Amino acid sequence: MTHDRITTGQAIEDEQGIEGSLRPRRLSDYVGQDRMKASLRICMEAALRRGEPLDHAIFYGPPGLGKTTIAHVIAHEMGSRLRATSGLALAHAGDLAAILANLQPGEILFIDEIHRLPSAVEETLYPAMEDYQIDLVIGQGPATRTMKLPLPPFTLVGATTKAGSLTSPLRERFGLVYRLDFYTPPELEAIIRRSAAVLNIRIEPEACAEIARRSRGTPRIANRLIKRVRDFADVQAHGVITLAVAKEALEWLGVDQAGFDEMDRKILLTIIDTFNGGPVGIEALAAAVQEDKGTIEDVYEPFLLQSGYLIRTARGRQATPFAFQHFGKSPGPTMHVPQTALFPQPGTDG
Ligand SMILES: Nc1ncnc2c1ncn2[C@@H]1O[C@H](COP(=O)(O)OP(=O)(O)O)[C@@H](O)[C@H]1O
Ligand SMILES: [Mg+2]
Repeated sequence: MTHDRITTGQAIEDEQGIEGSLRPRRLSDYVGQDRMKASLRICMEAALRRGEPLDHAIFYGPPGLGKTTIAHVIAHEMGSRLRATSGLALAHAGDLAAILANLQPGEILFIDEIHRLPSAVEETLYPAMEDYQIDLVIGQGPATRTMKLPLPPFTLVGATTKAGSLTSPLRERFGLVYRLDFYTPPELEAIIRRSAAVLNIRIEPEACAEIARRSRGTPRIANRLIKRVRDFADVQAHGVITLAVAKEALEWLGVDQAGFDEMDRKILLTIIDTFNGGPVGIEALAAAVQEDKGTIEDVYEPFLLQSGYLIRTARGRQATPFAFQHFGKSPGPTMHVPQTALFPQPGTDG
C-alpha cells in the first residue's frame, strides 16, 4: 500500500534509474545537512592526507533523505569504488565473507538496511570492522578449525531507517554516526531547481517554492513531485510550470498544502475525530487506520512529529492544535500542547 503513495519517502520501483541521474555526486552538490557535511569534509580530508580509509560511518533517518546518496558521494570524494549490498541480501555469513575478501584497499562497502543483517552475518562484521580480518570456519565436525583471513583496509558505510534496531556492538563499531534531518523548504527548493535543470523542466520560482513546501521535507518526494507536475504541465499547460499550474497539479495528485497525502490525513483525522485528539496507543491507531504499526512509525510518523502535527506522549500519540487547525477544527479546552510547526503554512507565514 505504501508503495503507491506519491508522498512516500521510499523509492518507487521505476524510479531507480532516474534517481541515479538526479543524485549529486560531489559533496558540494549535496544540499543541506550542513553539520554532517562539515564533519565529513574534515574526516575525509584527514583520511586522504594520511592515506588511510575513512572511518566506518553510519547514516540513519527516514527514507528519501539522502543516505544512499551520501554513501556514493563519499566514494566519489575519496576516489574509491563503492560496493553496494543490503542487510536483506546478505543471508549467510559466507555471502558477506565473499564480498569482504574481494574488496580492494580503500574501497567502500555500503550496506543498506543494515539493521536487517542476520546476527551470524553481523558477527562476521565485527572483526572485519575492527581488525580488517574475518574468521573463516573450515571443515566439519571434529576437524573444524577457524582461520583468520586478513582483509584490505576498507570503509564500511551503513544506512538504516531504524537506528533503534541496531545492536549496540554494531553501533559502537562505527566511528562516525550521523542522523539525517528533514530538509527545510529553501533546501528543497535548491534541490528542485537543480533537478529541473537536469531534466530540462521549465519552472517558475514561485512554483518551485510551492512544490518545496509540499515535499514533506524529503528530497526524494521533491524530485518525484517535480516529475509528476511536469507531466501535468506538458499535457495541460504547454510545458511551463507556473504557480497556478503547480497548485492545480498538486491538487490533482492529492497532495495537500502541508504535503499530506491520504494516509497522513487519515492518521491525523482518526486521532482527532475517533480518539478525541488522543493520546491514543500506536496499536489502536494502527488498527483504526488499517495500516501496519511499523509503517506508521517509520514512514508516516517521523514527518508528522517533526513538523509539529503530532506528539508522542507516554500514553500514546496526540494531535497538536496545529493539526486541528490544518483541518479547520478546534481542539478541546483541555489540550495543553505546544503550537509549533517546523514548516510554516501558507497563510501563517505572512
Ligand atoms: N542532500 C541532497 N541533495 C540533493 N539531492 C538529494 C539529497 N539527498 C537526496 N537527494 C535526492 O533524493 C533521492 C533519494 O535519496 P537517497 O539517497 O536514495 O535516500 P535514502 O537512501 O535516504 O532513502 C536521490 O536520488 C537524490 O536525487
Ligand atoms: Mg537508500
